Amino acid sequence: METKLTIGGVEVENPVFFAPLAGVSIAAVRRLFRRLGAAVTHTEMISSAGLLYAGTKTWRMTECTDDEKPLVLQLFTGDADSLCRSAERCLQSRSYAAFSINMACPMPKVHKKGAGSRLLQNPDVAFAMVRALKKFGLPVWPKIRKIVPDGREYRLDTLQFAEGLLAAGADNVTIHGRTPQQRYEGKADKREVVRAARRFEGKITASGDVYAPADVAFYLDNGCAAVLCARGAIADPFMVVHALQVLGYNVRMSHGDPSLEERAEILIGFADDLCRLHGERAALVLLRRFLSGFFRGRAGTAEFKRALASAKDWDSAYGLLRGWRSYFERGFM
Ligand SMILES: Cc1cc2nc3c(=O)[nH]c(=O)nc-3n(C[C@H](O)[C@H](O)[C@H](O)COP(=O)(O)O)c2cc1C
Repeated sequence: METKLTIGGVEVENPVFFAPLAGVSIAAVRRLFRRLGAAVTHTEMISSAGLLYAGTKTWRMTECTDDEKPLVLQLFTGDADSLCRSAERCLQSRSYAAFSINMACPMPKVHKKGAGSRLLQNPDVAFAMVRALKKFGLPVWPKIRKIVPDGREYRLDTLQFAEGLLAAGADNVTIHGRTPQQRYEGKADKREVVRAARRFEGKITASGDVYAPADVAFYLDNGCAAVLCARGAIADPFMVVHALQVLGYNVRMSHGDPSLEERAEILIGFADDLCRLHGERAALVLLRRFLSGFFRGRAGTAEFKRALASAKDWDSAYGLLRGWRSYFERGFM
C-alpha cells in the first residue's frame, strides 16, 4: 500500500504517527521513528513564553532536520496572543507541516499558566487560539483529553469540545482518552475516542494505550484518521514497524521481526544521532531509556542495560554499544 493520504491537511505516507513526548521527542528520536516508518513526528511541548522571553534552551527545541519531516510543532500557552507571537517567531527560520496546540498536559506547572488541559475548562480561550493560529496558513491540530463534564469546571464534554475546535478551524483534533484527573494512570477510554472519530469522520487522531499493532488497528478500524504511538513506542520502537505491516504497508525493515544485527545497526545509528545532535549527556540519558526496547524479550538485555547504566561517560557507553554481541551470545546459538 503506497498511496499517499491527506490527514489534517498534511500529506502523509500512512496513519501511524510518533507522539509529542516531553523529554523524549527530540530530533534524534524523531529521526529514528521516521526511519522506522512513522509518517509524522511531533516536537515535545514547547513553551510560548519560553520562546518569547527565555534564552537559547527553549529555542533549540524548535530545531529540526529534514529527516524528521513532516514534523508538527507543538506549543503550549494559555492565550492566543503569545501563541501567535511565538509561532510567528518559529516560522521566521523553520518550517513545519502543522501546528499542534497542547490542551492535554495535566501538570500543575502548566495549568498554572492557563495552558495544557486547563484549557479544557476555558473553551472560549481554546477556540480563540485555534482561530488565531489559522492566520499562518498551516494546519492546526489541537491535542485534548477526554472530558467528563461536571457542570462547574468542565462545561463541555469531549465531543462538544472537539466540535468547537473544528468549528474554529482545526484541521484535526488529537484525543487522548484519559481525563486530566487520570494524568497517565489507569486505562485510556478508547470508546470515547472512537465515538468522536465516528462523529467527526477523518478528523480525529487517537491517543492512549497504544502498546501493540492491535491497538493501532483498533483505532483505525473504528474511524480514527491516525494514531499516536507514545509510551508503547519507547517500550518497543519496532512496534511501529509491526503495526505498519499489520496494516499492509511496505515496511523498510527487511523482515517483520528485525534480526539482532538489524536492531543493533539501527541502535548505533540512533546513538550517533543522539550524540551529534544533542551532546553526550543528553545522548546517554536517552540511550538508557531506549535500550531495552531495542532488544525487548531477548536474553541478555537486562545485563546489557545494567552495563550501560554503570557507564561513566559517553565513550564507555558507546564502546559497550559496539560490543553488543557479547550480551546476546545465547541468541546466536
Ligand atoms: C513522558 C511523557 C511525556 C509526554 N509529553 C507530552 C507532550 O509534550 N505533549 C503532549 O501533547 N503529550 C505528551 N504526552 C502524552 C502522550 O503524547 C500520549 O498522549 C499519552 O502518553 C497517551 O498515550 P499512551 O497511553 O499510548 O502512552 C506525554 C506522555 C508521557 C508519558
